[in-house]
Amino acid sequence: MGIPQPAFYIFKCEQSAPPGMPKPSCVSQNNPESQQLFQYLAQKLMQEGVMGTVQPIRTSCLNRCQMGPVMLVEPGHTMYVGLTKEKIDRIVKEHILGGKVVEEYVIDPEFWDEPISPADMKKQMGM
Ligand code: FES
Repeated sequence: MGIPQPAFYIFKCEQSAPPGMPKPSCVSQNNPESQQLFQYLAQKLMQEGVMGTVQPIRTSCLNRCQMGPVMLVEPGHTMYVGLTKEKIDRIVKEHILGGKVVEEYVIDPEFWDEPISPADMKKQMGM
């Protein structure tokens, strides 16, 4: 038997705008809780004993800054927005452990429409 793949990757946006930047960012000095969310997620996964098969990843901007703090759960392409510690608790319990997406925390489909395949994008660009 080989080394098992992770069951989930969780990409947590850790982008922070420099002080004074008007642009919103997922980690902000104006929102102290936002600075603790990655650590909180990692601790939660450790407490549940699932670290390793669930791999939290610090990432830079995922291009949905207005809706931050955000994190993307793969597989499934599930984008969670407006994160708090309480929301992370529920996402870990219901989605990661329970297998059921927490729909009420998922990004509005208007901002997360179906992806365009790279092949189609090339066609659209006339390439
Ligand atoms: S700063 Fe997090 S999505 Fe852009």
